Amino acid sequence: MITIGVIGYGYWGPNLVRNFAETSGVRVGFVTDLRAERLKAVSARYPSVKTSTSAADLIADPAVDAVVVATPVSTHFELAMAALRAGKHVLVEKPLTARSVDAEQLIEEAQRRRLVLMVDHTFVYTGAVMKMRELARDGTLGDIYYYDSVRINLGLFQHDVDVLWDLAVHDLSIMDDVLGQEPVAVSATGLSHVKGEPENIAYMTMFFEGQLIAHVHANWLAPVKVRRTLLGGSKRMIVFDDLEASEKIKVYDKGISVNPSAENVYQMMVGYRTGDMWAPQLAVREALATEAAHFVECITASTAPRTDGQAGLRVVRLLEAASASMAERGKLVQLSGAATR
Ligand SMILES: NC(=O)c1ccc[n+]([C@@H]2O[C@H](COP(=O)([O-])OP(=O)(O)OC[C@H]3O[C@@H](n4cnc5c(N)ncnc54)[C@H](O)[C@@H]3O)[C@@H](O)[C@H]2O)c1
Repeated sequence: MITIGVIGYGYWGPNLVRNFAETSGVRVGFVTDLRAERLKAVSARYPSVKTSTSAADLIADPAVDAVVVATPVSTHFELAMAALRAGKHVLVEKPLTARSVDAEQLIEEAQRRRLVLMVDHTFVYTGAVMKMRELARDGTLGDIYYYDSVRINLGLFQHDVDVLWDLAVHDLSIMDDVLGQEPVAVSATGLSHVKGEPENIAYMTMFFEGQLIAHVHANWLAPVKVRRTLLGGSKRMIVFDDLEASEKIKVYDKGISVNPSAENVYQMMVGYRTGDMWAPQLAVREALATEAAHFVECITASTAPRTDGQAGLRVVRLLEAASASMAERGKLVQLSGAATR
């Protein structure tokens, strides 16, 4: 039986605690939060779980085998590193760290100690994204032309990260999993409408080798909630609407064919194909339940998670590039080390 300790019981922490509490082969033994009132909520629901306002107490507890870090982004590195140094396996909330150098250090520390380092890229474990990956990878979509996402609402303004680090991070993690290709250049623009606070609206464009392009529009200051992603391919196109209760994914057999016209070889004829639309059956299990079970499996079998430290690092590198571009009003930032996986 693996014992989990969870650091941070704010908005997201309770979801992690609930899912680990319901996962077999694991128990939640310890929860910490700086705010004592949050710990009262833990004790009310899980009376046998130890609590403390000090993360150091949890990290030092020999009964804790693995630590989940669900605190604000600026604290991820310090807490995750302390947990690894204490010999614990670690699951860190997205984004893995606030800087790529920190992510690199966590990866190195985990490798040296043969510990599991996983990042909570929640969407990767949803039935919808698993289906998108399958259809992108098995050729159903044909060549992938674009990834285009809108992730907007009247959202909670974060103080330590901008809207890309808070919302676009989901798209970057989905792209990382589904496309199997990394961008070669990034351009981002955005603005803050609250003096001294991070950007609350942003547009991020990613260029890949070849014909693929991606765009994410993220906004905490929108009157309506939209979570809609298009994945366009040469054969078929997907619309993923995460706010749909069922049929989150719709696959359209639509596209074009381009042929030179018979009369004039310099003039292209664009033909349109409008076939059927279907909504594939998706796994309905809660993503965090799948993810909690996967973390436990990786610890037990000493295997690398689907969303390992490297996946976390790739996403942080993109976010860093976006921040650098945004600081220069969209200047194109080239990325090195991009590869097809
Ligand atoms: N995967 C997802 O879909 C998802 C969704 C929301 C948030 N998150 C991530 O979860 C993390 C937390 O976000 P949130 O919205 O829950 O924030 P939050 O502010 O609601 O909660 C964070 C909690 O951490 C506590 N905390 C801060 N420093 C601590 C420390 N050193 N020791 C113990 N407790 C500490 C705070 O008191 C607070 O209760 C962030 O990294 C965020 O990006 C992920």
